[in-house]
Amino acid sequence: MTSQSTFQKEYEQWLEKTKQLMERFPERRELFHTSSGIPIERLYLPGTAADTYQENLGFPGEYPYTRGIQPTMYRARHWTMRQYAGFGSAEETNKRFRYLLEQGQTGLSVAFDLPTQIGYDSDDAMAKGEVGKVGVAIDSLEDMEILFDQIPLDKVSTSMTINAPASVLLAMYIVAAEKQGVPKEKISGTIQNDILKEYIARGTYIFPPKPSMRLITDIFSYCAEHVPKWNTISISGYHIREAGSTAAQELAFTLANGKAYVDAALEAGMDIDKFAPRLAFFFNAHNQFFEEVAKFRAARRIWSHLMKNVYHAKNPKSWQLRFHTQTGGSTLTAQQPDNNIVRVTVQALSAVLGGTQSLHTNSRDEALALPTEESARIALRTQQILAHESGVTDTVDPLGGSYYVEGLTDKIEEEVYSYFEEIEDMGGAVQAVEQGYMQEEIQRAAYETQKAIEKQEDIVVGMNAFKLDDEPQPKLHRLDKELSRKQIEKLTQIKDRRDQNRANARLADLKYAAGGSENLMPYIIDCVKDHCTIGEICGVLRGIFGEYTGA
Ligand code: 3HC
Repeated sequence: MTSQSTFQKEYEQWLEKTKQLMERFPERRELFHTSSGIPIERLYLPGTAADTYQENLGFPGEYPYTRGIQPTMYRARHWTMRQYAGFGSAEETNKRFRYLLEQGQTGLSVAFDLPTQIGYDSDDAMAKGEVGKVGVAIDSLEDMEILFDQIPLDKVSTSMTINAPASVLLAMYIVAAEKQGVPKEKISGTIQNDILKEYIARGTYIFPPKPSMRLITDIFSYCAEHVPKWNTISISGYHIREAGSTAAQELAFTLANGKAYVDAALEAGMDIDKFAPRLAFFFNAHNQFFEEVAKFRAARRIWSHLMKNVYHAKNPKSWQLRFHTQTGGSTLTAQQPDNNIVRVTVQALSAVLGGTQSLHTNSRDEALALPTEESARIALRTQQILAHESGVTDTVDPLGGSYYVEGLTDKIEEEVYSYFEEIEDMGGAVQAVEQGYMQEEIQRAAYETQKAIEKQEDIVVGMNAFKLDDEPQPKLHRLDKELSRKQIEKLTQIKDRRDQNRANARLADLKYAAGGSENLMPYIIDCVKDHCTIGEICGVLRGIFGEYTGA
């Protein structure tokens, strides 16, 4: 049989298989066609059977997933439109959540304030001036219940950007859902839970690496057993790129961190196919459009190779790299903020053509303040226009086969593997982070980029070229000045109302367990149920694990 007829046969077999998969998500239309009535095929293939097609690209929904993890991709279901939001009190953020859902958003994403992210209560001296500032203040179970008031947690998936205290916020979410009558088996969402990138780039860590990895694998194991629809980690490249890395470094360091989490879970005795299907990723959609598309395609091919051929996972769901994307916050300019709508559109398009599963589009004013309601709406409308008007969602992996994009995909893949070698030589990602290797590589790249901008080799419209003498002064989001006082009052009332003996007993149980090797999730859930606060729970863990002072 010629390679062409073999290839044709393989294609027809794939089509057959896809039909069964489409039970749950049939395609959005009977016939997809262009404005001139030309039918749009689900997939476009090389004219002659490229011998390496199956090995390098494969059909979408099949190993190595280069062209996408679903056979029909957006022809059946658009990516989740999941805007990162959170500020002030749980009441204010709940209002913004419900507004965005009314405007057509299809998933939630919680931004927490820094005290919450670092495990302090709003009344802690460390929280002064930060309560409700960069995200919503969550001290207690009550705050979590208010945050999701009138939002059915069996119908909406929620992402929580929380790392060091991830177990505590997950516990609060589980209990808040139960109080809505939604059992933990029915809740779906993602906890970021990725501490390595916090050491590398973002900085909201609390504990040293070893206990941090234990808390992370405790979540893997607890959710595999009890919260089957929960994505237990969002291994993030976003912040690595925001810190100034190149696209190849973003991908290499993120996937190296992913390998470290897999190794840690295997060392903790877990079966790879028990936890790997619920690992998720999070990337940046930055400038350099075609390189970004190639980065996402290379990511799927590299990860599926690692999981199938290096870790020998058997379940194809363990091989699929599923990811969320946020457009590049660091590319937003304070100058001429409306220009950012165009930047975000181009970046969002790269994520869509790169096959993202979930997307956040930045608002035009986020270089200046948290987004106003109007700016957040425009950011969501940007996604909706790409999804419903642009036509780019009507065929799978439309840039597949482009000499440029396939070449870039191969090139990025090559660079990632050479970084892998460097990191392996150091003993893996945890050691590389402890040695400051990734941090130095990122700083070097960031310095080169800054120099190019200052020399005007890289143009940033409105900032180092095409400037205005009189900058427009947009209306900005303002924080409630009384917030901190109100939040502290609420916290005091919660502590006065609760059964103090029960709360103390729960914290003592947690302290004892943290000194051992048991899974801490059940103990943290019990603390939350008896109204212990995030500061009290993290305070117990600080006492046992100590605090990390950085590489
Ligand atoms: N055919 C068949 N099935 C399909 C399909 C298709 N075409 N498209 C989707 N599906 C199915 C999926 O398989 C899935 O089924 P499952 O429930 O059985 O798994 C279901 O439909 C939902 O689809 P996805 O899982 O693809 O979409 P989700 O949105 O639920 O999940 C994710 C996407 C990437 C896996 C998840 O981890 C996620 O939502 N991540 C978001 C993370 C996030 O928002 N992070 C924000 C961080 S903000 C930050 O850190 C920046 C700040 O610091 C500045």
